[in-house]
Amino acid sequence: MYYSEEVLQEVRERNDIVDVISQHVRLQRRGANYFGLCPFHHEKTASFSVSPDKQMYYCFGCHKAGNVITFVMEYENYSFTEAVQYLADRAGIRLPEKNQSAEDRARADRRQKLLEINRTAATYFYEKLRMPCGSAAMAYLTKRGISAETMKNFGLGYSDRYSDDLYRFMKSRGYSDDLLKDSGLFHYDSRKGFTDKFWNRVMYPIMDANSRVIGFGGRVMGDGQPKYLNSPETEIFNKRRNLYGLHVARRTKKHNLIICEGYMDVISMHQAGYTNAVASLGTALTDEQCMLMSRFTKEVLVIYDMDTAGVSAALRAIPMLRAAGIATKVVDLRPCKDPDEFIQKNGGEAFEQRLLSARNSFAFIVDHVESRYDPQDPGERSQMLHEDCVEAAKIEDEIERESDMKYLAQRYGISEKIISRYVAKELLRDTAQQQNEIRAREDRQQKREALKADPGDTEQKIMLTMLTSRPEIIPRITKYLTPQDFTNPMYRKVAEMVFDQAGKTGRVSEAGIIDYFGTAEEQSEAASLFNTHLALDSDEERIRAFTDVLIRLKRKSLKARSDALDPSDMKGFMQVMDERKQIDRLAASGLPDEIFRS
Ligand code: UTP
Ligand code: MN
Repeated sequence: MYYSEEVLQEVRERNDIVDVISQHVRLQRRGANYFGLCPFHHEKTASFSVSPDKQMYYCFGCHKAGNVITFVMEYENYSFTEAVQYLADRAGIRLPEKNQSAEDRARADRRQKLLEINRTAATYFYEKLRMPCGSAAMAYLTKRGISAETMKNFGLGYSDRYSDDLYRFMKSRGYSDDLLKDSGLFHYDSRKGFTDKFWNRVMYPIMDANSRVIGFGGRVMGDGQPKYLNSPETEIFNKRRNLYGLHVARRTKKHNLIICEGYMDVISMHQAGYTNAVASLGTALTDEQCMLMSRFTKEVLVIYDMDTAGVSAALRAIPMLRAAGIATKVVDLRPCKDPDEFIQKNGGEAFEQRLLSARNSFAFIVDHVESRYDPQDPGERSQMLHEDCVEAAKIEDEIERESDMKYLAQRYGISEKIISRYVAKELLRDTAQQQNEIRAREDRQQKREALKADPGDTEQKIMLTMLTSRPEIIPRITKYLTPQDFTNPMYRKVAEMVFDQAGKTGRVSEAGIIDYFGTAEEQSEAASLFNTHLALDSDEERIRAFTDVLIRLKRKSLKARSDALDPSDMKGFMQVMDERKQIDRLAASGLPDEIFRS
């Protein structure tokens, strides 16, 4: 979904950055700006500044920078679209539903209604738990050590014993059968009509990352079967794409996430202070869930039951997480079955110890390989090492693979040379398709790196900084400099926008330019252009600096252009020669004074 610049501008204008940030950071006025403790890194003195004039923030400590949209993206871990939607909601702006057909709109309305029904059900269950009819459920949860506060935080509830209790309540609220049928909360039978799916169970509302109720898990109190009932997949509940507890865990201050198996495990861990715990929803971990986690962290601790099924689940999870750019560690809680049981028995401190002794993923894999061989038997040992090398060869990151090979050499007292020869042989086995995949990956990596500024682009960066601080001179220098002279793709894009805006309005909307970039990294980089302060005192010094930078930038751009010319392109060469002469004249006599006049 792309929003037009006008819409984005309205969203920015109606959400004053000082207001928005003040909801999360205590800001104090100092001169023209506000200062507070940076929410993005730990600090004792306030180096996080917010400028009401520029509608930007900048941290002098960690150099994070951006506008109100990037702030919400960074702080809430939202995507660009989510952040825009959040801010539009906050300001009561209706976002255009671009190119929406009547059908699309109807579907969106339906989804909205289904969310409403699930939210209403959650409130209903929540209240039941606190009524006399919920006393057994309350006693059950209390016996399992859950505090009133935790119950509240997770919105725990109770579904009554009657088999159409919720249905009648929903009807009294006026919801149509057609909607209720698809809410996932009822069984429908053409003869018997509607019955509640959940009754006499402790209810765990399942929320998406934005805290919207999308489904439920319901547990029997005691030993009945099935232990848990879950909402089926619906238009709003996709089990592959959600994680239980993520709406809280996304805001954790911890640097990693913990993934476990159960609702109760998440709840117990959060209660013990591990607010970074999430669970997959009654199914094996999916690629979507790995990608989802990768938006919030680069490290995941896996805590599965260490029985055969749990170990293979962990072994499956490791490469999936790795593919999503996440490093994995495996936590062993034996002899306990799960985190809930462990914490109830041994408390939070003992739990912390187990987290600290988590095994890194490769060591865990090697343990597993070893468990299937007798390392004392020479034949088996060689086979085992061979298998270990196959595992090492699967690691794409060279540095990581290198350290894994070292680890193998040390663990089994074998020279690194032999290990690396084995691994190299495995790598060679790669099929042509794998080679292609590797090439494509490198390609992407290169493109990503090209976006970041390399040191040779310093002039371009400084030039942009200078131009945005004096946009009125831009139309006067187009004879010497155009956006095409910016060879760094990202700076070129910024330059195009800056030149365009300055040409049309004589002004530059810094915040608008930042929005153009999709990733937080690029946005920070773009924002830093507008926050770099050049300590130049006199006008004369400023003019000389500007001219110097212009000449250097231009020379490099001309060199790049002539390098790229086809040898037969005479016209192109002439053009480059002409511009070179112009630059030489400039170097000798400087830019005309009127360019700098204000
Ligand atoms: P467990 O059987 O390990 O249960 O299932 P648990 O989480 O430890 O629950 P308690 O402590 O006995 O209350 C792990 C997860 O698998 C799913 C649920 O998401 C559960 O949290 N599950 C399990 C089901 O969906 N249905 C079941 O019948 C059992
Ligand atoms: Mn359990």
